[in-house]
Amino acid sequence: MEIDLSLIGMEKGRQYETIITTRTDENLMNAAPIGVLCSGADTILNRIFKGSHTLENIISQKEFVVNITHDPEIFAMSTLGNLPQDYFNEDSTLKCADAYFKCEVTSLTEAVKQSDPIKKKDEAIVIKSKVTELVIIKNTRAINRGFAYVIETLSNYSLFDIVEEEKRQVYLQRFREAYRIVKKVGYRQDIEAMNKIKEELIKKGYEP
Ligand SMILES: Cc1cc2nc3c(=O)[nH]c(=O)nc-3n(C[C@H](O)[C@H](O)[C@H](O)COP(=O)(O)O)c2cc1C
Repeated sequence: MEIDLSLIGMEKGRQYETIITTRTDENLMNAAPIGVLCSGADTILNRIFKGSHTLENIISQKEFVVNITHDPEIFAMSTLGNLPQDYFNEDSTLKCADAYFKCEVTSLTEAVKQSDPIKKKDEAIVIKSKVTELVIIKNTRAINRGFAYVIETLSNYSLFDIVEEEKRQVYLQRFREAYRIVKKVGYRQDIEAMNKIKEELIKKGYEP
């Protein structure tokens, strides 16, 4: 199949939430949710914090698989623990994937980004990779977090006038975090929607 990440809804410059599967030197398979920045039709970037199995395996194998799934249990299980080996196919792809693509690492660079909400700023590696194979099992789109944040923020906004001041401050705090993330990962329309909500909060006399 032609390698064009737009076939699974991935747009250059946007970040998507995926499950990356890798292998250890002993052939044990591992899965973890990892953000994927689409940098071209067949190129991606990842930024992975040191200490994860995923980073260790990618450094040693120089290859990995990006799986597209909308199964929340897979995200939860692979964040909170290890996904059992029977969730994987022989080639390290996930049995439940709607689509997957195989990647070969082209470069690994130490990364520092001051906007990260983490304590140490020098603990990540940026990985550039080339997609070598794309398989679409069923029609799907990679997950982007922007829209979910817009919906959640609107839901909070719709309660804003009928809650106590203390709760409003909670919503404003949530707004600020949602705005930060939507500006980072969302589509233009998501950012515009958040800007509209921000204007309304300002009109109400708040500083979102
Ligand atoms: C939606 C989501 C996206 C994530 N994206 C990243 C990421 O881009 N980079 C990273 O280092 N960790 C990311 N994480 C955290 C890792 O998935 C988490 O540290 C995981 O436990 C690593 O597992 P491993 O040790 O099996 O690799 C993300 C977690 C979630 C839930």
